[in-house]
Amino acid sequence: MADRAKFQAIKGVRDILPPESALWNRVEQAAREVFGTFGFAEIRLPIFEVTELFARSVGADTDIVKKEMFTFDLHASQDLEVRRDVMIGRRTSGPYDIQDTELQTVHEAEIQVGVFIQIIDNAIREDRVARTSENVRALDGLQTLYKQFSAICESYRSSFPSEDPKWNTEMQTLFEGIASYASKLNFGSLVSLRPEATASVVRAYIEHGMQVQPGNVKLYYMGPMFRRERPQKGRYRQFYQIGAEVLGSSDAPGIDAEVIEMLLAFFERLKLKGAILNINSIGDKNCRPAYVERLRAELQVVREQLGADSQRRIETNPLRVLDSKLESEQAIIEKLPRIAENLCAECRAHYDEVKRQLGLRGITYQENWRLVRGLDYYMRTTFEIIAPGLGSQNAVCGGGRYDGLVELLGGPATTKGIGFAIGTDRLVLSLQESGAGEVASGLDVYLAWFGAVTQPAAVKLARRLRDAGFVVELPAVEMKFGKSLGLADRLKARHAVILGEDELAAGVVAVKRLSDGTQQKLSEPDLFSYLRAARNS
Ligand code: HAM
Repeated sequence: MADRAKFQAIKGVRDILPPESALWNRVEQAAREVFGTFGFAEIRLPIFEVTELFARSVGADTDIVKKEMFTFDLHASQDLEVRRDVMIGRRTSGPYDIQDTELQTVHEAEIQVGVFIQIIDNAIREDRVARTSENVRALDGLQTLYKQFSAICESYRSSFPSEDPKWNTEMQTLFEGIASYASKLNFGSLVSLRPEATASVVRAYIEHGMQVQPGNVKLYYMGPMFRRERPQKGRYRQFYQIGAEVLGSSDAPGIDAEVIEMLLAFFERLKLKGAILNINSIGDKNCRPAYVERLRAELQVVREQLGADSQRRIETNPLRVLDSKLESEQAIIEKLPRIAENLCAECRAHYDEVKRQLGLRGITYQENWRLVRGLDYYMRTTFEIIAPGLGSQNAVCGGGRYDGLVELLGGPATTKGIGFAIGTDRLVLSLQESGAGEVASGLDVYLAWFGAVTQPAAVKLARRLRDAGFVVELPAVEMKFGKSLGLADRLKARHAVILGEDELAAGVVAVKRLSDGTQQKLSEPDLFSYLRAARNS
């Protein structure tokens, strides 16, 4: 018997169904419109990238990279790497002493190298390993040396046993050559589902040489991100972000303020209430290291009073201790040295100017010296927005400045960056909780037709209404009057347009406004005017 087990979406991922999806569309549409007015254009990015990109930008020691990425092997290259390492390991694990070597071992080594070369050859042919010039050169080299190696093995076998040291030297040299070519093979890296998109934006900026564009490059994106976190309200393994980044040669604080202004204009458009902006400056490479050392020293003093996570972070990343939500650590953290008092003159001036620029835009904010963020690329300005109705996962948006990241990823050292990402799931949740998430039914007309002769006219009228932009539901089969109008009600249509044989003969339709039951007969042109007026009311 067939297995009738029901499938369910896996833990931490979910479906977004109508009518909620209409709210998602509204949110995304508002982002496009508002961001567009600030001169941002959309960038569409791949869902996965080489793992190294995230390790290098987000930080190899962060929770995101260490524990939360979904990583896989694009070309089954791990298997190839293991084979190569075994082969190289054997050949380089010491001098190849032919005197002690059994004939059998030489035979095995020959087969092993031969099989390996065959596998690589196939993999390149089948595009499982990239056909780069380095790989092709390495494979050619391996094949040439392998032929020589086989020839020597053959002569060795025919003169076995032999005390002649030339076997030893010749085999050793060839093995070293084979090892050297093998180590030059590049199988391609591991790839990860993106846990965030700033790294990808910067990668794309560099890859496409966008620094030559005039002014700042202003990009926005939206789509799914993936982190293997413990799922709970507002925290998912596949979640969505709407983000924006500004890349360019200027780090003027006015850019920081304008990015935040745009974010708040977007929230205003959506009528999100009760959002609180937190800001901080975490210094730069000139002043932060000294602060981190001060913090580390202070944390060492109170080490025993801290939880296991914070104790570990004293070594790995003391700044992250400031992020701790552990109740027992709060009083201790309050007494720690604060970054604001340890900024260098340049960072202090930058931060002061960001605040002034926010002020002149009428933006209110809270300074939060503990806002350090969980990604390594930030420097100077950091910010977060918390929104009501979200429980413990109340950060609806996070962002900040990342001036060194473009250089770190191999781009021009002069390019600075700043941006943010909104957690769309959380934004939608907060809108729903505050009552701002209602999306009115989009159905303008339920077109009820009665009598087989009216169907062709109904089909054509539905099409003309749809062409004019009205949302129309047309029953596919004839229904009884009461049932049909009942369905119109349940679908929350604004109007039922009724077309029976009498109306058809008279060249009119009956229009019933379903909110109050008022009904009138209208000609087609009058129907269109009436519906248009109703839509704008
Ligand atoms: P982030 O703070 O890691 O920053 O994420 C931004 C937002 O994504 C969070 O504030 C939250 O609303 C949402 N979010 C994160 N993880 C989850 C999850 N597991 N489930 C639901 N929502 C989540 C970044 O990603 C940076 N790339 C932001 C940025 C852009 N900084 C500069 N440019």
